[in-house]
Amino acid sequence: MNLLKFIFLVISVVHFSQCAVVEEYKTYKDYKLFQVTSLDGVKDLIKEFMEFDDALVYSGNKTSAGILVKPDLVSIFEELVTMRGLNMELLVEDYSKIIEMEKREILRNDGFSWHAYHDVADIHDYLRNMSREYPNMTELIIGGQSYEGRQILGLRINSPSLHKKGKPVFFIESGIHAREWIAPATTTYFINELLTSSDPHIIAMRDQLDWHIFPSVNPDGYQYSRKFDRMWRKTRSKSANGCRGADPNRNWDYNWMKSGASSDPCDYQTYAGKEPFSEIETRSLSEYIRTLENLRAYVGFHSDVQMLLLPYSDSTEHMDNYDDLVTIGKTSLDYGYKVNREKYNGPATAAEILYMVSGGSMDWVRNTLATPLVYTYELRGKNFHWPPSRIPEQGDEVTQMMLGLVTEANNMGYFKTKVSK
Ligand SMILES: *[C@@H]1O[C@H](CO)[C@@H](O)[C@H](O)[C@H]1NC(C)=O
Ligand SMILES: *[C@@H]1O[C@H](CO)[C@@H](O)[C@H](O)[C@H]1NC(C)=O
Ligand SMILES: *[C@@H]1O[C@H](CO)[C@@H](O)[C@H](O)[C@H]1NC(C)=O
Ligand SMILES: [Zn+2]
Repeated sequence: MNLLKFIFLVISVVHFSQCAVVEEYKTYKDYKLFQVTSLDGVKDLIKEFMEFDDALVYSGNKTSAGILVKPDLVSIFEELVTMRGLNMELLVEDYSKIIEMEKREILRNDGFSWHAYHDVADIHDYLRNMSREYPNMTELIIGGQSYEGRQILGLRINSPSLHKKGKPVFFIESGIHAREWIAPATTTYFINELLTSSDPHIIAMRDQLDWHIFPSVNPDGYQYSRKFDRMWRKTRSKSANGCRGADPNRNWDYNWMKSGASSDPCDYQTYAGKEPFSEIETRSLSEYIRTLENLRAYVGFHSDVQMLLLPYSDSTEHMDNYDDLVTIGKTSLDYGYKVNREKYNGPATAAEILYMVSGGSMDWVRNTLATPLVYTYELRGKNFHWPPSRIPEQGDEVTQMMLGLVTEANNMGYFKTKVSK
């Protein structure tokens, strides 16, 4: 072999091994988005189709689902739908176009704003900045760690008041599912409202409670969805067989794996992890939550099925204060409705209006800590692509929803402050 050939060989081997390591951006070129509707059978269709595609991307409710189909599986998919007699509509011809459009919008980003989606590092910077700007009522809090070594960073807003010690704690968890970008964006928007609004109702709400707010509790997944795969939902931990991530909202230690979760580490969406709290994100966050005294309200933000959900997600049985939760939840939705005239489904249990699912944070909190007010808000958002220019629209809606929740909870005596000595 002459030298030139040898050098060429070395270069190509090095190049090849680099390619194998460097991850490529998933474009979703020619993937088609279908909307499938039927009174029954959407779930079975997804299950059947997953035998052909274990990286299936889908979302929806009991009667309707958006399903993203690889170009070479379109005919098989259409056959399955026809065989089952379901209704199907092609919503998007080439999904990569939507992702490209969104990327162009993201690039129009000058500083921190609510007209763009930001990296975890920028969200954390924002929280640090707020803790510096409002030192008399905020502090940075660390809710836990991620697999790749990021912090689960949050902001505590606890303005000085007469009842410093006994304030009821209101906890907000957001972004547990990586691709639901509107959730972290809405959460920082809400933080900004709490800190800067001149609306006396919002100021009163802020001052009454001790807020613990975490905009991105799955920071690795969120970053991965920004850099490599827009539809990524899970964490980034590595399974024994090499597949990545577990669904952090199937991983909590209450009725783990009972329903609506997968035991296959390669399942793209709902792998529950190898055991309860196998994921450092859920384990460390749960430890943080356990330390909170007087936790009265726990809210999780997701997208995109536009619903208000109550515990328990894997049972249609109603809890002791179910009626109160419904009353408070209704007021919350009414307040939100006034902003954009957008109607949300619920409040109701996930088992009743979405699907049975176990291992979520909401159920664990309710069961383990007996927290009286526990809700999951499924925000809006067109298959997870909510236009960044419309973040404030969703942010104002959520701010009013929180105001409605707190107002009605006060009416019903849920936030009676313990008098501290
Ligand atoms: C399910 O989703 C479809 C499509 O978004 C919607 O029209 C329908 O009202 C939803 N059903 C429930 C029970 O939320
Ligand atoms: C944080 O504050 C610094 C200094 O004022 C500023 O340069 C930076 O843009 C801010 N970052 C965010 C994310 O708000
Ligand atoms: C806290 O600081 C902000 C900004 O510096 C100020 O406007 C506000 O009056 C202070 N609040 C209290 C209760 O000291
Ligand atoms: Zn979600």
